[in-house]
Amino acid sequence: MSATITQTGQSNPVLLPAQSKRMRMDGSDPVYGDWRDDLLADGFAVIKQAIPRENADKYASQMYDWLEGFNLGFDRNDLSTVHRDKLPSITEKGICLQYAVTHEDFAWAVRSEPGVVGAFEKIYDDADLLVSFDAINFTFPNRTDISPNKPWPHQDQDPLKPGFRCLQGLVNLLPNGPDDGGLIVCKGGHALSEEFHKEFINEPRIPAWTPEWFGFTDAGMKWLKDCGCVWEKVCAEPGDLLVWDSRAPHYNLSSTTQQPRFAIYTCFMPVSDASQEDLVRKKDAFERSVGTTHWPNARHTGSNVAKRDGVEDPHNRFEPVNKPVFTERSFNLTGIPYIRA
Ligand SMILES: [Fe+2]
Repeated sequence: MSATITQTGQSNPVLLPAQSKRMRMDGSDPVYGDWRDDLLADGFAVIKQAIPRENADKYASQMYDWLEGFNLGFDRNDLSTVHRDKLPSITEKGICLQYAVTHEDFAWAVRSEPGVVGAFEKIYDDADLLVSFDAINFTFPNRTDISPNKPWPHQDQDPLKPGFRCLQGLVNLLPNGPDDGGLIVCKGGHALSEEFHKEFINEPRIPAWTPEWFGFTDAGMKWLKDCGCVWEKVCAEPGDLLVWDSRAPHYNLSSTTQQPRFAIYTCFMPVSDASQEDLVRKKDAFERSVGTTHWPNARHTGSNVAKRDGVEDPHNRFEPVNKPVFTERSFNLTGIPYIRA
């Protein structure tokens, strides 16, 4: 039987059976007639209303509840209360990583939404999927109490492992127009990735905490521009799912309006792409209520120890306030049921 080799988050390529309709993302895909064509051409796509609007509004409200629940003085109706002293630790990029937030009920509810899981099932032609325990994004406008959010154009995969390896995603939960901050992608840059890295093989890399992150220098940005690539701010409504190829250069912008931005990062991969060792590491992350970054195979695992002014935040939490309720389907996404005895 013939087979096709595809790259995944694992070190070894995966053999796909010839009959698999999994997207190959290597120029050999058919025309699909839906958002998958945008993904292939541009490196990103928007899946409109992956979550019904009323659910998106409910999850956004729960996210506000969570922030107010620290009882530090933040009030959703008063933007003057947006201050680092009144909020949990959130980076200038809007990222909240600790406090077990990735295992709160709203995060799991978003990950388990049929329209979200279904989009990734379509990509991989596989219902046995793992989901990442990734960060939550709370971006508030006009913050002067934390460092400015400077552009950090990057790819989320190691240039030494070319080819399509991971599809990243986020669910947008508040209105997100052109100036409301959020994802900006270099349109078509994913398809130039291999050529780019051949060209820049001798350029010193911007230091990063993981080889699975590549930052673009000014020279790299110029190369992309000279190739005709244009950066596009991706706009979305509450409930829309944004997906992008990890090879696509991207970063995020801050809001310059009065509109906050809330998003939950959701990335899935087939269970068959993960090793048993990956699944055991992921189980441990689940049991400790920590994050995994966007890699669903728990390539990296995090911590719930946030720091405030260089010391451990006294408001740290090590388990979610509102524990998720799992169905069999959503619990499968943890990978735990796939661990062999
Ligand atoms: Fe990224």
